[in-house]
Amino acid sequence: MKIFIDSADILQIETWLEQGIVDGATTNPSIMYKDGISDLRAAVLDISKLLGDRPLSVEVTSNDQGIMLSQGRSFASWSRNIVVKIPVINEFGDSCLGVIHALVQEGIAVNATAILSFNQAILAAKAGATYVSIFAGRVADEGNDPGIVIRNVRNWIEDWGFKTEIIVGSIRTLMDIQNAALSGAHVITIPPQFLPKMVDHKYTRETVRQFVQDAERAEEQMVKAQGVKVGSSKK
Ligand code: E4P
Repeated sequence: MKIFIDSADILQIETWLEQGIVDGATTNPSIMYKDGISDLRAAVLDISKLLGDRPLSVEVTSNDQGIMLSQGRSFASWSRNIVVKIPVINEFGDSCLGVIHALVQEGIAVNATAILSFNQAILAAKAGATYVSIFAGRVADEGNDPGIVIRNVRNWIEDWGFKTEIIVGSIRTLMDIQNAALSGAHVITIPPQFLPKMVDHKYTRETVRQFVQDAERAEEQMVKAQGVKVGSSKK
């Protein structure tokens, strides 16, 4: 299973890349806004360079399918590791599967995003999407169980031999991450604020504290023992 970082914050991406746990990154217009991006192309180029060969998802910004297509082509031309994010429908409910299909036909990797149901996911996979992004937090907001949606989509992908990978996004709690991992996500895209919480545990801290204290005591004991030995050999 891969972990992507759901962020446009270059320092956070760098920090977690150094920890060896980041396989790629995802962004969306809200993330770009929250992270104070003022020049989309410059930010994308900086992040994509930092990521090397790892994929970076960049989302189109319009409801218009012609604009989605031209933005998608343009983003993909910026760097080899760009994955174009296309919502499965626009805000008026028009299918964007044709945009997904056209870009994939041109050899552009596509992340079909804002997916909230099994049916949306399988149609996006049929259209050729490289990734389908299931929004776990938003599925749960609607009173549905994201684990069931993820598991069903994964089973369907395996049963029918599709190459599409499931990205689980819209992470709101640590349990969302655990549930996604155990429900069959190929990728979980995690906002950076959750990563320190994932690695930390108060009892691990206490355990390490005990080891460090005992290491100091053991060292004193060894120095004392060596001293006694040296002393006794002089006699
Ligand atoms: C990632 O690809 C998604 O765009 C992101 O996780 C959505 O998160 P949200 O539901 O908190 O906006």
